[in-house]
Amino acid sequence: MSVFARVLDNIYWRYYPYRFMYGKSGSITHLDVDGWEKLRFFSEPDELKEISRNADKVFLGGAGNEFLQSLFGPESVFLLDGEKHLQARKIISSELTNTAVSDIQPFIDTVIQSELCRVSDCGRTDLCSLARFIALRIMCKLLLNRQDRAVAKSLFKQLEQLTGFMANIVSFNKRYWRARQRISVGSFVERQTNKLRTTLNTLILESDHSSQFIKKLNSVCDHPGFGPSFLIDNLISCMTAGYDTTGSALAWSLFWFGREAGEAQYLRTAVAAGDMKAIKYFRQEVLRYCPPIDVLPRKLRSGCEHSSDVLSQLEEGAVACPYIHRAHHRAQTYQNPERFSPQRFARKEGYSNNEFCPFGAGNRLCLGMNVGRVIMDRLLTILCTDDWNVCLSNHRFRLVRRNVSIWPGYPLKGKLIRGKISGL
Ligand code: HEM
Repeated sequence: MSVFARVLDNIYWRYYPYRFMYGKSGSITHLDVDGWEKLRFFSEPDELKEISRNADKVFLGGAGNEFLQSLFGPESVFLLDGEKHLQARKIISSELTNTAVSDIQPFIDTVIQSELCRVSDCGRTDLCSLARFIALRIMCKLLLNRQDRAVAKSLFKQLEQLTGFMANIVSFNKRYWRARQRISVGSFVERQTNKLRTTLNTLILESDHSSQFIKKLNSVCDHPGFGPSFLIDNLISCMTAGYDTTGSALAWSLFWFGREAGEAQYLRTAVAAGDMKAIKYFRQEVLRYCPPIDVLPRKLRSGCEHSSDVLSQLEEGAVACPYIHRAHHRAQTYQNPERFSPQRFARKEGYSNNEFCPFGAGNRLCLGMNVGRVIMDRLLTILCTDDWNVCLSNHRFRLVRRNVSIWPGYPLKGKLIRGKISGL
């Protein structure tokens, strides 16, 4: 591979993920970033199947985990491994069930309605910040049992500073992330995380009524195998993972609802007729077209048999990266993949996990999947029932990797207007 091609691929990966995803027909299959493992990208269903069969159980798997350690803490479910990881998943998932989410559904509705009304009074607004803030307010209720706007606002400020540094963690030489160096991205992130931990600890202590999430995680802090930081590490992990990914999913929902007037009208009519499946198909199409997490790096088990031609070419120590975005835009799986068409999910129920996997797969499957789905469904339902129009300033489809997720590649501005608008 020529030096020129290598430099170009790195530039695409860091600054133009849009080109990296689609590239010359999405053809970039490997990437070498100094200081990290070699990354190899896969998007064919049989390749993804083989990777999930042979994947080691660690998250990200390589140098990425060193950085995440200073952000999430050593007891984060993201960083635990083996039996301990399974136990932690069981504990956390018991508090993020469908029942837990439906208990707070009235609050979810109130937050969405009030935040939409608030920005509609202000004219043109940044829809991405709106989406992240809605997601964070809901996380505050679910994880901390705090529903005051002021608390969410102060946490939002801290999280926005922190997660901005998570963009492209695998893109820059890892020495920039070292926390021990006094002036490095890593040391800045560590200082910010410490401030966030202090804020969260204060919120936990001053709350009269802890959330079920806090009670449950607190009760296992002194179990054998788990340490005192289990609660706070996983609170930070779920809050960071939850608000940014769900925020991205909500921003893309607003984008498509505003851009595809015909699909939005179809959805309104279906909802008015009580057909709630239409909401599910719209949500699935948003997550197919723009999965908030575009890539799932996996380290393969050492000594595993690589039966497919492609995996057998994987060099020692390389990280296999199922590329969700490309898998979701594969023409053999999705007819006319660049068209936004929720009806494709009505025509074919049940794409396999290797074809449609916005929440990942296997034993690292997203723990907040129910939460994310419900929040998206409520936003879409309220847009329809309360007769909202999303008038975008820019209809272009461009994306960037920002925070932990994939976001519109420019400030997504728009107006939220209620009721019939002439010309729409
Ligand atoms: C639409 C919203 C969301 C999307 C698209 C999403 C997507 C993902 C993806 C792709 C993964 C990695 C899975 C893998 O490696 O196979 C993941 C992991 C995870 N997510 Fe989400 N997520 C969302 C919402 C949430 C929420 C709301 C929470 C928490 C309340 C959450 C908590 C987690 C956790 C804790 C993990 C790590 C699981 C583990 O390593 O065992 N996510 N998510």
